[in-house]
Amino acid sequence: MPKRVDLFDSTYSHFTQRLLKTIRKETFGQDIGQNSWTTVDEYDQFLSWLDLRPEHHVLEVASGSGGPALYVASHANCKVTGIDMNEAGIATATQSAVDSNQADRVTFTVANANSPLPFDDDSFDAILCVDSMNHFPGRLKVFREWCRTLRPGQRAVFTDPVVITGPVTNDELALRSSIGVFLFVPPGVNEQLIEAAGFRLIRQEDVTANAAVVSGRWHESRKRHQDALLKIEGQERFAGLQQFFAAVHHLTIERRLSRIVYLVEKLRR
Ligand SMILES: C[S@@+](CC[C@H](N)C(=O)[O-])C[C@H]1O[C@@H](n2cnc3c(N)ncnc32)[C@H](O)[C@@H]1O
Repeated sequence: MPKRVDLFDSTYSHFTQRLLKTIRKETFGQDIGQNSWTTVDEYDQFLSWLDLRPEHHVLEVASGSGGPALYVASHANCKVTGIDMNEAGIATATQSAVDSNQADRVTFTVANANSPLPFDDDSFDAILCVDSMNHFPGRLKVFREWCRTLRPGQRAVFTDPVVITGPVTNDELALRSSIGVFLFVPPGVNEQLIEAAGFRLIRQEDVTANAAVVSGRWHESRKRHQDALLKIEGQERFAGLQQFFAAVHHLTIERRLSRIVYLVEKLRR
């Protein structure tokens, strides 16, 4: 069985180095600091579903490097709070907010999304969570926290990148989850938990194709920059991550694991 391999610590603590910027550019086209399967055109589409306005306060759950949250703030001219469990990610994000003169409206806090959120009821006008739901095994509690902190009638958008839609072996599941805690669910489970938590499902779409393309490009770009990456990651981590990206690519291109985006609305009281 594959060993755990670190993706997030190593990536976030070297995030602003030219090498990682080059890899992001080759992988995503437009680099907004994403560390997921999303491209800017796709992210723009998700944002359009939230109908963001300048008076809004958005919560980004699992904000990673902070780049996407800063993009949201400048796109909608609104306030954004990002939370992530990874301290290196939050440190990079906080520095980026200062460097981009957005520290007055974009803030980042270390918090575990699997625990009660450190925010009052009805605090936010929108919640965004990209390619991170798979790291939240207590999913009903997580949705309930989102529902509690979101204002009635407001929306959340999230992707689940590992919905099981075909046969997958134990080794494939182990490789796909080698970067951390994972919950794999079949179709129908997210839908059921969304309703149980107090949301209405407004829309869902299959966005697996983006993950297939991005994971393939990411793997190729890393291979091109292997010598330089080895100096940061070492042989074992580099090889482990290459296996991880290859597994994501195969499983998505063959549609055995699907990536689904959900748009939900908190019921009005
Ligand atoms: C695939 S990355 C996505 C980051 C960001 N959403 C993006 O699009 O670039 C997944 C993120 O989830 C974070 N994460 C994992 N488990 C978490 C948890 N329990 N609470 C908060 N963040 C978590 C990781 O640190 C990582 O930054």
